[in-house]
Amino acid sequence: MSVFLDHASTTALRSCAKEALSDALDFVGNPSSVHSQGRATRELLEESRDKVAKACGANRSEIIFNSGGTEGNNHAIKGIFWDRVKKDPDCKVIISSRTEHHAVIDPVQWLGGNQNAEVVFVEHLANGMIDLNSLRSLVKKHGQRVALISLMWVNNETGVISDIPAITEIASEFDIPVHSDAVAAFGHIPIDFQSSGLTAMTLSGHKVGAPIGVGALVVARSAKPISLVHGGGQERSLRSGTMNYPLAASFAAAAKEAIAELDHEVARLGALKDQLEAAVMEAVPSAIITAQGANRAAYNAHFVFPGTQSDAMLFLLDQKGVCVSAGSACQAGVLGPSHVLLGMGFSHSEASACVRVTLGKTSTLQDVQVFLTALEQVHPVALQATPA
Ligand SMILES: Cc1ncc(COP(=O)(O)O)c(C=O)c1O
Repeated sequence: MSVFLDHASTTALRSCAKEALSDALDFVGNPSSVHSQGRATRELLEESRDKVAKACGANRSEIIFNSGGTEGNNHAIKGIFWDRVKKDPDCKVIISSRTEHHAVIDPVQWLGGNQNAEVVFVEHLANGMIDLNSLRSLVKKHGQRVALISLMWVNNETGVISDIPAITEIASEFDIPVHSDAVAAFGHIPIDFQSSGLTAMTLSGHKVGAPIGVGALVVARSAKPISLVHGGGQERSLRSGTMNYPLAASFAAAAKEAIAELDHEVARLGALKDQLEAAVMEAVPSAIITAQGANRAAYNAHFVFPGTQSDAMLFLLDQKGVCVSAGSACQAGVLGPSHVLLGMGFSHSEASACVRVTLGKTSTLQDVQVFLTALEQVHPVALQATPA
């Protein structure tokens, strides 16, 4: 059995989530039906909504269940943009970042290429954090023409935590709606939608121990993003289609447990990560911790191993029974340089030499030790395998 240290990509199904799913699958009834069995599934759905709302500091009416992070980001970005442009055709600037997940960058760029959006990217400090002065000047420059700002709460590659309240404060000068992809934040750092100042926030279930294929878009009551799908008007008319109460129940159970364990896990995984980083730097002194000095999530360690290539490192580590990732998108089986590291100013060769180790509920000191032993063995081989 290999050691799994890729919890940011997806994490093990929690027993409570499996149980909630299995129990809910025994129910029969469309939550929109008026008969008793329909009312029973509606009750289950609304209890689940309540749990997810409590877990992220939102009002229950703000939770729109959906299929996960990619859908949530697409919906928030396109829906808010379309709503703003409908009211003012000149309000078409989108502020985002080059270090966002593709589930944000791609819809933003699609709007740029197909719907006349003007896309501008904020600058980053050397440690990967958003340069708030750069954001301030973009907001001042484009003012009322900014349709929305979309900036993630925790970066899924580097673990960098953004100061979301500071971002929404800057946006408030021109009443600009702010969306945040909180997929890598939810369950890993405390988040509170109500006090964040956000208009919309994306959550994904499988990152907190629910099955793949469920998530939620949190949408402030005041916001009316245009829907991506039209139909029966379920979920505040923002996500038509028969509501998936079994997956919602499973997501809610996982979210509740993740939040209950949050403080303990942050301390436990943070200590493991510190040990891991110190040991990596001792074993490979040329390694770079990519967002050193930034405020980072406890479960995430991201390195550059200069002179290697990510795909060689991942392959060799996998052969030693260690599952990690580079953090960058893998297209057609070929790893490109990390767009996140390129966006932070790393060189092409550095951005092609990264390894991400992400810890989770099942991670132990022994897992970390297995990784370190494997790293010491594979690093010299990966250096040799890289063409000069
Ligand atoms: C930061 C971030 N946003 C969005 C997504 C996409 O989420 P989903 O897999 O639920 O579509 C991911 C998944 O890797 C992610 O890490």
